Amino acid sequence: METDEDGRTVTYTVVSADRAGSGGAVLWKVATGVLLLVCIALAVALGVVVAGDVKPCGAGMAAVTVVEGPPGVFDDLTAAEIKAARDYLLGVTPLGIKPIGEATFYDNYIYVVELHLPPKAEALSYLDSNGPRPERQALVTVYGGGRTQPVVEQYVVGPLPNPTRHTAHTPAGRKNPIPWHSRNPGGIERSLMNEAMSQATRQMDDILAESFDGFRHNDCGELCLLPLDSVPRGFRSGERMTWQRFHRGVEGFFLHPLPCAIELNHTDMDHTRWQVIQVEYNNQYFPSVADFVQRYNDGSVEKVRVPAPTGDAALYSSSRRHGSPAHPSEPLRGPELIEPDGRRYKVTGRHIEYMGWSFDWRLATTSGPHLFDVRMNGERILYELAMKEIATWYSGSDPVMTSKFVDGGLPVGGNFELARGIDCPTTATFFDTVHMMDKAGPVLYKNSVCVFELNTGIPLRRHYESNYYDGHSFYGGLVDNALVLRTIQTVGNYDLLYDFIFHQNGVLEVKATLNGYVRVTYYHPNQAPYGYPAWGGSMANLHQHFFNYKVDLDVGGTVNRFETVDITVDNVTLPFRPDVRHFLTRLERSQKTREAEATVQYDFTKPKYYNFYSDNHKNRFDVHRGYRIQLNGISKNLLPKDGATAVNGAAWMDYQVAVTRRKDSEPSSSSIFNQNDLYDPVVNFQSFIDDNENIVDEDLVAWVTLAAHHVPHSEDFPTTATAGNQLQFFIRPFHFYDEDPSIASPNAVWIGRGPGSSQNYVDRYGTPEVSTCEPKHIPMNYDGRWHYA
Ligand SMILES: *[C@@H]1O[C@H](CO)[C@@H](O)[C@H](O)[C@H]1NC(C)=O
Ligand SMILES: *[C@@H]1O[C@H](CO)[C@@H](O)[C@H](O)[C@H]1NC(C)=O
Repeated sequence: METDEDGRTVTYTVVSADRAGSGGAVLWKVATGVLLLVCIALAVALGVVVAGDVKPCGAGMAAVTVVEGPPGVFDDLTAAEIKAARDYLLGVTPLGIKPIGEATFYDNYIYVVELHLPPKAEALSYLDSNGPRPERQALVTVYGGGRTQPVVEQYVVGPLPNPTRHTAHTPAGRKNPIPWHSRNPGGIERSLMNEAMSQATRQMDDILAESFDGFRHNDCGELCLLPLDSVPRGFRSGERMTWQRFHRGVEGFFLHPLPCAIELNHTDMDHTRWQVIQVEYNNQYFPSVADFVQRYNDGSVEKVRVPAPTGDAALYSSSRRHGSPAHPSEPLRGPELIEPDGRRYKVTGRHIEYMGWSFDWRLATTSGPHLFDVRMNGERILYELAMKEIATWYSGSDPVMTSKFVDGGLPVGGNFELARGIDCPTTATFFDTVHMMDKAGPVLYKNSVCVFELNTGIPLRRHYESNYYDGHSFYGGLVDNALVLRTIQTVGNYDLLYDFIFHQNGVLEVKATLNGYVRVTYYHPNQAPYGYPAWGGSMANLHQHFFNYKVDLDVGGTVNRFETVDITVDNVTLPFRPDVRHFLTRLERSQKTREAEATVQYDFTKPKYYNFYSDNHKNRFDVHRGYRIQLNGISKNLLPKDGATAVNGAAWMDYQVAVTRRKDSEPSSSSIFNQNDLYDPVVNFQSFIDDNENIVDEDLVAWVTLAAHHVPHSEDFPTTATAGNQLQFFIRPFHFYDEDPSIASPNAVWIGRGPGSSQNYVDRYGTPEVSTCEPKHIPMNYDGRWHYA
């Protein structure tokens, strides 16, 4: 063994020993053996020293992820609460609701059970003024396929865990009743759709097999074609017609589209009347399967042959390693986080405390991560900060690429298990979540949310003060340690990362990151305006991602104002040089009084800050204590907002920020029913604005939209990477604190030298510099499966 220049141990293999003369060989072997023994002895001795001196790092603050006793006000329903709500409602005979396992398409059954939040006033009275604890309630969505006029119903069931009553949920901020055609196809409908598809495609299976290298849709064994859905299901309100393109069922099937798609009309209430109304094959359209088959057989169809990729060529859609790495010859591990003094955040159930910050979180089954009661140094800044909707608008003349996804409505969306060490650092604390959607009972999703403290690798603040003579007069700095709450939502092909990042200077960063497979179609030259050709004859089409967040700021209480601080240009003369005109920028505070004025459509020529404050809260300089929203990831929806487009169902995407009066009856900018009627949606966000209410000294909500265009490129294969695909907004103090609150951190370092002294004086405020503990190794232990709870 030797040590190279960088101090790494290098092992040399003696290859010549056996080829040397016999006596020499014995000598060599003995010498090598002795040396080896010495090496082992040294290593053992070193090991003893290490084990004797270095203790395992402490655990730090408590992380109790599951607490005994009643759940917190904002906690998602427990498995027991979900079961109680389900069983109660199944027991209300007049409602005629059947367990999902026994229900058909023509019965009434429970689709989702999730938390029904208490009214804000009740929650605040409990949190702030010793009011009664709000009752725990469930919001239950029922598919009423068995009603004379089929309809979607919602009931509020309470009080949990022993419910005694249910009331129909029909909030004012949306369409009531919920039209039957607005529902997502649940598993029951989907199996009927699959049946109809199978029946229809049976006659064309041989053609599929001939065209696609033996792959067929029915009785397919190992060589299966999988139909992939697109939405919306039609181009007018009430239509329910779904285009499905065949993909080859291999690893990464999302990237294996084939030039054949089918449109199924499942509008009819009677599923036996569902039928295929169009077939697309090699960019030719046919009004029925029979017509297609006949024309294929009589030779009037332009045929296509797509061989199945084999060997390395099939790996393009796989996450398994291929290619030659630009790496050291042996794989080495990358840097990892350690917590030398253990956890510096405290977890009590869904309540988290970190460096002055505190908040509660939940993971809503039908929309995503929500934070509640976010406070800094005990002062509430946000009542709610929640992901409310995500959308992806595709482009292309191919029927599946007219897709407009509004994913809150997709039952396949889910926050699944996170991998320790990859999705979250090894040091993270993981949480399980429980959901009941389109299932007989609550399902446990292991490790689906994580929280961790991060060394972001950048100083939060630093300054080197030069003495302009021989060096520094002082240096001051603080690393940006921040707490991150993360969950990742897999929506079919995409994996969307949601982060909430709490910095020590009172800044809350909200981030959405794109990852996963791109959505592709089969390349045909007429698709050239919408993307680039790629692997396996596919093309990934141009699309735009949108994320809508509800930001219920309570800055100095619930009575708030919203202003923009506008930066305008002035043309003035100045007293010290009255003979010339001076052009400069100036501030204009512009308070907004009505909802219609409080929408932001970003204009480069009119830069503004978006600030929220309370009229009677001022800082030491008599300035309103505010929190502002800063947008770092915006792009404009280019499609016109009229009946012909789907934008009605996602009207929020027209505004980077829209400020409205907060109402319990307007809990969300969207609903799980918007996807299936984007033209006349159940929740039309525009109506929140159009009543044009007063927003002065009211409880306000900012609806924030992050967005980005994605022009997919060959490096999106196999999957889109996070680098460059992160969209953020920040909720930042604006005169809220008299100075940077991180100045109080004992983790800061100040290095100065006395007058005329060359000695450095280093102040670490009691924080030790070196770590003397052994970080604990926590194995990854990935399961990946879902479990009934
Ligand atoms: C789809 O089905 C509905 C209900 O049966 C029918 O009214 C409509 O005409 C069908 N649409 C097409 C395009 O076939
Ligand atoms: C600036 O103001 C002066 C005086 O009113 C005016 O003559 C001049 O046109 C202005 N310049 C611009 C660029 O607006």
